[in-house]
Amino acid sequence: MDKRNPLVKNKRILQSSYIPEQLPHREEQIKEIVEIVAPSLTKDKPSNILIIGKTGTGKTAVVKYIGKELKKADDNEENCSFIYINCEVVDTPYGILYNIGNQIIKDETKSIPFTGWSLDRVFSELTKYVDKENKIYIIVLDEIDRSFQKNGDDIFYFLTTINEVLEQSKVSIIGISNNPKFTDFLDPKIKSRLGEEKIIFPPYNTVQLEDILKDRSEEAFEKGVLSPGVISYCAALSAQDMGDARRALDLLRIASDIAERNNDSIITEAHVKYAKNKIELDAVSEVVRTLTSQSKTVLMSIVINTENDNPTMNTGDVFATYKHISEILETSTLTQRRVAGLISELDMMGIIHARVKSFGRAGRTREIELGSKEVMDLIKSDVLFKKLKNYKNVKQTTLI
Ligand SMILES: Nc1ncnc2c1ncn2[C@@H]1O[C@H](COP(=O)(O)OP(=O)(O)OP(=O)(O)O)[C@@H](O)[C@H]1O
Ligand SMILES: [Mg+2]
Repeated sequence: MDKRNPLVKNKRILQSSYIPEQLPHREEQIKEIVEIVAPSLTKDKPSNILIIGKTGTGKTAVVKYIGKELKKADDNEENCSFIYINCEVVDTPYGILYNIGNQIIKDETKSIPFTGWSLDRVFSELTKYVDKENKIYIIVLDEIDRSFQKNGDDIFYFLTTINEVLEQSKVSIIGISNNPKFTDFLDPKIKSRLGEEKIIFPPYNTVQLEDILKDRSEEAFEKGVLSPGVISYCAALSAQDMGDARRALDLLRIASDIAERNNDSIITEAHVKYAKNKIELDAVSEVVRTLTSQSKTVLMSIVINTENDNPTMNTGDVFATYKHISEILETSTLTQRRVAGLISELDMMGIIHARVKSFGRAGRTREIELGSKEVMDLIKSDVLFKKLKNYKNVKQTTLI
């Protein structure tokens, strides 16, 4: 480790949790949000805001940045408190209220216990505390759709109607989501309350991503370690994908890790290419790793057919192999229809390709193909198939 050639001055700056001082190309959105929340500094209730934008478009970074600025502008949080909750991390109504409560309640002996109270009791205790000081509470619910998916809209109902029972304080909600459709499923009343103001974060284009990377890399890297094309290459790759700044930063960070590990003195486009492959492989292995045993068995059947010189097989071929493996592993066997359903799922995940082929009157079938060689290696090394020996020829497959 000590022999490593340190190319990065400060690794933290390239992490996605780091909030930079400057957020280029979000000036407009920052201005809009600040105009809405600024009245809280004089104890006027801001409208609720819904922020919508694809992944990596700076939603979390912008809101956290504004929270920091609000705190600076408001001595001792006299007029307003900014409370941030990530609903992907804290994903139950109780957890959300517990977190809000304990950011508000300063007296530890009065804090809401981690479990044990009824939701009604938490609601009423929280309402009491919110109303103790005459203040504006801005509550950010990041990844708000996650909470809705799991728990429905009770919590939003509580948080958007709390103002009707408060006598002194007021609560404003900033909801953040990368799913523009999520509000369609909300109760219409809650939908209109949450979305009093709607702000869209568009994806970044190549030039904008370049600016973002330039700023971050000036802080993060020693001078001269980035070869000239690296930033534009990272930006171009990520703009092509989704205009995702997180992806662009990941590419740069992983490329620099690879360069450091190789003891190279500059980071080049070749390192970025490696980084891209690594990110893609990591994503595929995560998908394969988290498949159900049945789906893994179907995938293994496709691998076996591929290795047995049957690279374009149909559902029947896959099902025959699947049945055979299930017998050897002594696991339950699904019907051919269910297996066909799992094949469609694997296709949708992009792990395999399944094309429908028509034979006119003779009917239709699917031609199934493995997505990549990596998938093959991943599934073959899965512990589920440790018992399979010599799967190259499924007829000879035997137990160890
Ligand atoms: N305009 C910008 N300037 C500098 N860095 C940025 C900018 N926009 C985004 N980033 C950085 O890109 C990364 C991803 O941004 P952020 O976490 O805010 O995305 P997000 O929109 O919240 O995505 P998600 O929907 O996946 O949560 C962070 O490291 C953030 O600091
Ligand atoms: Mg976010």
